[in-house]
Amino acid sequence: MKKTHDCGTLRLTNVGDSVSLSGWIQVRRDHGGVIFVDLRDRTGIAQVVFDCERNKEIFQLAQTLRSEFVISIVGEVTARSQETVNPKIPTGEVEVFTEELEILNVSKTPPIYVEDDKDVDENLRLKYRYLDLRRPEMQKKLFMRHNIIKKIRDYLDDKGFWEVETPVLTRSTPEGARDYLVPSRMKPGSFYALPQSPQLFKQLLMVAGMEKYFQIVRCFRDEDLRADRQPEFTQLDMEMSFVDTEDILAYIEGLVQHIYREVLGVELTLPFPRMSYGEAMERYGSDKPDLRFGLEIKEVSDLVSDSQFKVFTGAIKKGGIVRGINAKGAAFSRKDVDDLTEFCIRLGAKGLAWFMVGPEGLKSPLLKFFTSERLEQLSQRMEAQEGDVLLFVADVKEKAEEILGHLRNQLGHKMDLIKGGENNFLWLIDFPLLTYDPEEKRYVANHHPFTSPREEDIKLMDSEPEKIRAQAYDLVLNGLEVGGGSIRIHRREMQEKMFELLGFSNDEAYEQFGFLLQAFEYGTPPHGGIALGLDRLIMLMLGASSIREVIPFPKTAGGSCLLTDAPAPVEEKQLEDLHIGLKLPEGGA
Ligand code: AMO
Ligand code: AMP
Repeated sequence: MKKTHDCGTLRLTNVGDSVSLSGWIQVRRDHGGVIFVDLRDRTGIAQVVFDCERNKEIFQLAQTLRSEFVISIVGEVTARSQETVNPKIPTGEVEVFTEELEILNVSKTPPIYVEDDKDVDENLRLKYRYLDLRRPEMQKKLFMRHNIIKKIRDYLDDKGFWEVETPVLTRSTPEGARDYLVPSRMKPGSFYALPQSPQLFKQLLMVAGMEKYFQIVRCFRDEDLRADRQPEFTQLDMEMSFVDTEDILAYIEGLVQHIYREVLGVELTLPFPRMSYGEAMERYGSDKPDLRFGLEIKEVSDLVSDSQFKVFTGAIKKGGIVRGINAKGAAFSRKDVDDLTEFCIRLGAKGLAWFMVGPEGLKSPLLKFFTSERLEQLSQRMEAQEGDVLLFVADVKEKAEEILGHLRNQLGHKMDLIKGGENNFLWLIDFPLLTYDPEEKRYVANHHPFTSPREEDIKLMDSEPEKIRAQAYDLVLNGLEVGGGSIRIHRREMQEKMFELLGFSNDEAYEQFGFLLQAFEYGTPPHGGIALGLDRLIMLMLGASSIREVIPFPKTAGGSCLLTDAPAPVEEKQLEDLHIGLKLPEGGA
């Protein structure tokens, strides 16, 4: 046996035991006649001692050991003397005097430190991910990920959910990102799409009578990547029959409470608060508001529409709005305000109007455009006090909301208002079912075309479709969308009506989703579901800065895997088999 004990488990109670340990060499320290080796496995580190006087042959072999060699030893656990106890590690009270040593493998000098808290370039970490993953911190993250997923499976099994697998080679799904395509060899010119989610299959499983389905499933979306987005990511996907929104939210709340309790020992308070989409956009400029800090957005159009400031009056005349944020007690310098203006302009703002609140009241180059009465009212509306900085954006409503939402988050960071360790869950509800796309001159579904309108809004379908609210919900945690779902349309007439609003002809709808529509003709139960972005949830549970930190082999922002160098060109022959000719952009791929 190359391993009777794990390195990290040795304690004083093991003193006198003969143990065999196997692992990697963290460091070797040569103290003349004695060599100390920190031996590492996934459980931790044990100090192993090679004493020249006890065993010369093994001592000489130990002199050849280097970092990351893989060894097996047999030895006796011994208590360390008081002065040599290392209180920093759990095994620090003991060491193992070696009687046998086998070098199982050698290692080149590693290109990155296999050690936590070293500032190593992320690209290098990704290239040598197998070394990066040897670090205790990364091993802990992967273990926690395993543990969270296990707890999810146990919980859902207990509630009567079945895990059912769905295909990866399939047709396009309606989540709205760009598809990854896989060419078919057997059907030249035809392609599979990798699923953006199992949406259509899970609905088919409801038609198939599964009643309660879940799957821990990989999804693929070809979109621009960010810290919380990967081209392939994992969802906890769920679908249920004979439920309404309340049932689904309650299942998720119970599940999330369970994993926080079991994995982190954190007790969450239920139910999670809820906010309508409209309120979130108005007060926080975001459909995933971060409620760990205040800085609410205030409407001031009514107070500035009669001013002399053309930027404001012009925007209002064109149907736009003016809204602002009070950066409470921020006492910004001109430089700070210039930086924030720059920040807003990069987001597409035309500028940022500001007022600083000094001991004598408001200070701003814009004062001259407003009556003192209006300035007083503005101060009151914004609850201005000395040291505050008032920031305003004038634009069309949607754009002003978006810019202020980003500005608010920026201020939250800049003013250091976000304290660690908070778990601010929020349900976002009452999304509009449709948004009008002026370019395509038609409505587009906000969630997807199978999302059901709210019963009481169905009457608006012919008159004011943009006012219909969807039976859809998003789960937001600390300002990130960690999940989303809806109650689905299960009756044919309603589905056809929906396609009509979306500007699909019946033929077009059948072309894309015919198999689902057909299935719906054979007794579809009312159903609904949700998908949680597991990478995002795990990232937030573990306090990681990016989902790449909780994915074993992630891709870079450019979509590459630095370890395998994917994506990569393929042999001409492979393309021929697939009947594919390349038409590359000028200047190469
Ligand atoms: P949706 O598109 O909202 O819903 O996706 C669900 C959740 O998946 C996560 N997510 C991502 N995580 C990492 N990288 C990405 N590129 C990425 N894209 C999405 C988010 C998101 O909330 N089929 C529907 C669910 C349903 O209606 O039941 C769906 O996929 O956390
Ligand atoms: P200007 O009249 O362009 O010199 O702008 C005067 C001030 O108004 C500057 O501080 C600009 O940043 C700001 N500003 C310009 N356009 C807008 C806008 N749409 N919303 C808010 N502030 C603006």
